[in-house]
Amino acid sequence: MMVPQWIIEKKRDGREIPEAELREFMNTYASGSLPDYQMAAFAMAVFFRGMTFNEVTVITDVMMRSGDVLDLSGLSRPTVDKHSTGGIGDKISIPLAPLVAASGAAVPMISGRGLGITGGTLDKLESILGYNTQLSTKKFLQVLEKVGCSIIGQTSRLAPADKKLYALRDVTGTVQSIPLIASSIMSKKLAEGARGLVLDVKFGAGAFMKEVGRARELAETMIQIGRNMGRDMVALLTDMNQPLGAAIGNSLEIAESIDVLKGTGPVDVTELTVALGAEMLVIAGVCENAEEGAAKIRGNIESGAALEVFAKMINAHGGDPRVVDNPERLGSSPICVEVLAGDDGFVSHVDADAIGRVVLLLGGGRRLSTDTIDHLVGIDGLIKAGAKVTQGEPLMRIHARSKNDVDAVLNQARKAVVIADVRPKKSPLILAKIGGKNGSKA
Ligand code: URA
Repeated sequence: MMVPQWIIEKKRDGREIPEAELREFMNTYASGSLPDYQMAAFAMAVFFRGMTFNEVTVITDVMMRSGDVLDLSGLSRPTVDKHSTGGIGDKISIPLAPLVAASGAAVPMISGRGLGITGGTLDKLESILGYNTQLSTKKFLQVLEKVGCSIIGQTSRLAPADKKLYALRDVTGTVQSIPLIASSIMSKKLAEGARGLVLDVKFGAGAFMKEVGRARELAETMIQIGRNMGRDMVALLTDMNQPLGAAIGNSLEIAESIDVLKGTGPVDVTELTVALGAEMLVIAGVCENAEEGAAKIRGNIESGAALEVFAKMINAHGGDPRVVDNPERLGSSPICVEVLAGDDGFVSHVDADAIGRVVLLLGGGRRLSTDTIDHLVGIDGLIKAGAKVTQGEPLMRIHARSKNDVDAVLNQARKAVVIADVRPKKSPLILAKIGGKNGSKA
């Protein structure tokens, strides 16, 4: 018989928990029979002692199986998905899914809403009039077969044990534990049923993991879990010290995603979309290597094929597909104000965290989970680190509901762009690649 306190004690003392005991402990929690106080004590022991790859795979497996696990085996194309640990201005999923679908794989994406100051793919997509993020499983599979990609929201039946544990960790100081984060993310991603997964693990001031060493450890843990469960896995470690792209805010990020699909998007968003897409095509077995994958993705930007897939996906979700040709159909906020440089010099840093806070304060994010968001507000035309500026030149544009809303954030927005006398050293957007198909090292 499993005695919960003995399992907690084993972890507290740094011993490995045998698989059968850990599985029973987690199953008891998932079924509602283990009290929160015992799980909270266990989570704190994991926080201090960590977990072996076997242990973290067991808890992921139990959380994944606590709800529905999709069966995608009936689809005619190979399936692959991407997960990002999140960042300011990260709209990559939106151009990426149609690009990979246009290149021959199927992309089943279950996405989230904004969390804190980071935006959510679902909120962004809902700025397209009529786009329905809540499809039935049957319809999701139909869209995947017909269009090649579908982006929907989580249902309460996706890894419910993770939902419960995440809420408990949130109030017991145990969120920042790599095995708990990795198992939480992977339980949901693996429940989607895709055969392969590409991870965009971010580090830096605007990321969940501030230090690159921690981001690498998180990536390695998630790769190991995925492989232990028979999936092909690869991760890119990417810089999130400054926002991605020039637009932050829901409809503004859809407009920027459309630009990427038309070949006129910002360099950084395009570079990362192509790199992740290339890895997805390799993982899916559509391309031999990342160079071939990148060429295919670029080809589907140039030909307009991916833009067409995006319009089809929007249409299949009940949205207005005309936005791809006329992004002004997304609408605009009543006020648009330029923020001007106070000095001459070079942009040494754009504070992703501060920009995220400004957009949230404008109404583009939620202060409370029950808040409704304003899809039209945000920032675009944001200058990038390394750019030369002269006094009076625009650093960004603020889109707001009212003049008062602009006044409330103007100072913070201006201070988010740091101007110095010397040009900063350029840091790469993609720092490293970890993992690869069939366990190959990149
Ligand atoms: N996102 C998740 O889904 N889970 C975590 O634990 C952290 C971030």
